[in-house]
Amino acid sequence: MMEKEAEEKGQDQEQEQEQVVNPWQVSAKSGGKIDYDKLIDQFGCQRLDQSLIDRVERLTSRPPHVFLRRGVFFAHRDFNDILDAYEKGDKFYLYTGRGPSSEALHLGHLIPFMFTKYLQDAFKVPLVIQLTDDEKCMWKNMSVEESHRLAWENAKDIIACGFDVTRTFIFSDFDYMGGNFYKNIVKVAKCVTYNKVVGIFGFTGEDHIGKVFFPPVQAVPSFPSTFPHLFTGRDHLRCLIPCAIDQDPYFRMTRDVAPRIGYLKPALIESSFFPALQGENGKMSASDPNSAIYVTDSAKAIKNKINKYAFSGGQDSIEKHRELGANLEVDIPVKYLSFFLDDDAELEHIKKEYGAGRMLTGEVKQRLIDVLTELVERHRRARAAVTDEMVAAFMAVRPLPNMFN
Ligand code: TRP
Repeated sequence: MMEKEAEEKGQDQEQEQEQVVNPWQVSAKSGGKIDYDKLIDQFGCQRLDQSLIDRVERLTSRPPHVFLRRGVFFAHRDFNDILDAYEKGDKFYLYTGRGPSSEALHLGHLIPFMFTKYLQDAFKVPLVIQLTDDEKCMWKNMSVEESHRLAWENAKDIIACGFDVTRTFIFSDFDYMGGNFYKNIVKVAKCVTYNKVVGIFGFTGEDHIGKVFFPPVQAVPSFPSTFPHLFTGRDHLRCLIPCAIDQDPYFRMTRDVAPRIGYLKPALIESSFFPALQGENGKMSASDPNSAIYVTDSAKAIKNKINKYAFSGGQDSIEKHRELGANLEVDIPVKYLSFFLDDDAELEHIKKEYGAGRMLTGEVKQRLIDVLTELVERHRRARAAVTDEMVAAFMAVRPLPNMFN
């Protein structure tokens, strides 16, 4: 066993000079971008190809979300099975979550929720949202009380994304723990050896045992029996999890265990990371305020951050820029616009003109400032309208009246 651990450690170190992607760390190979093809290979998930996107469009009779059209959600596991079943008239449920680690969310945090909201509307299915207040207080050296409070605050930002209270159940782990939730946790925990979690998550002997215990907590909302108030009698309801690809290790473990305890494996639809303002070698970090745009940033702060920090692929002088054009591959304003500018024709136009040097960095940044200011302002208004009573309504353990219609 000691030999095995040493071997696994050695592999970790090798990977550290390479790219590292796990729930706690996302970093590209030094100086480079995240290599998503390599991730698909390493993790063993599938690429989300055009034929699946076309199928989503056909089945939902609405244009695919910009995150699908532009490849923000780029990988999946068994999403085709979900669509096969849906085509035959079988519904499914959505499961996503958030670790409430900070008071204010940044744009990267909103992506899975914006996408989940689209999926909920397009497929008309129920949704459960897990707030892992337990996880964050164990990883972030935050008190239990503070983490629990942040879960409630973050629920307001999540609700502000527009979820339908008649189809959505939001729960804090601290509050919802018990009953079938905990029974399923124990069922999963019994199937996962210590060596296995060490292999998947890289825990060491110095990590406290709370971390070792946590993965089953994130696993079991994938199983309908975890929610008897929603899904009693529907043990074969499929689950689809929209998430960023750094969460894949949790669900590899979940999918490995599911058949052994008589449950269906959850399907996944996975996104790439929203890059930092400084460039595309990791994801936005809540610990560096200048690397991200927050939903609480003022219009002035958004303008300053983009003008000052957004990494530009434009040339150093106007003459050179007119001659050579911008390098769109590394340009953050174009990258951000590709996430948030809905108009395909306008995006293409910007790329063409900017890439040819006819449009300048300042103009592209200005367009981005407009788009993000509007998005953040809309979010701010929506969040301000979310009352504590509304949060309580989403979190109430109750049946969902409009679950499947
Ligand atoms: N671990 C996630 C985080 O830190 C939160 C989470 C819980 C989650 N369950 C999930 C994310 C399901 C995506 C899908 O943010």
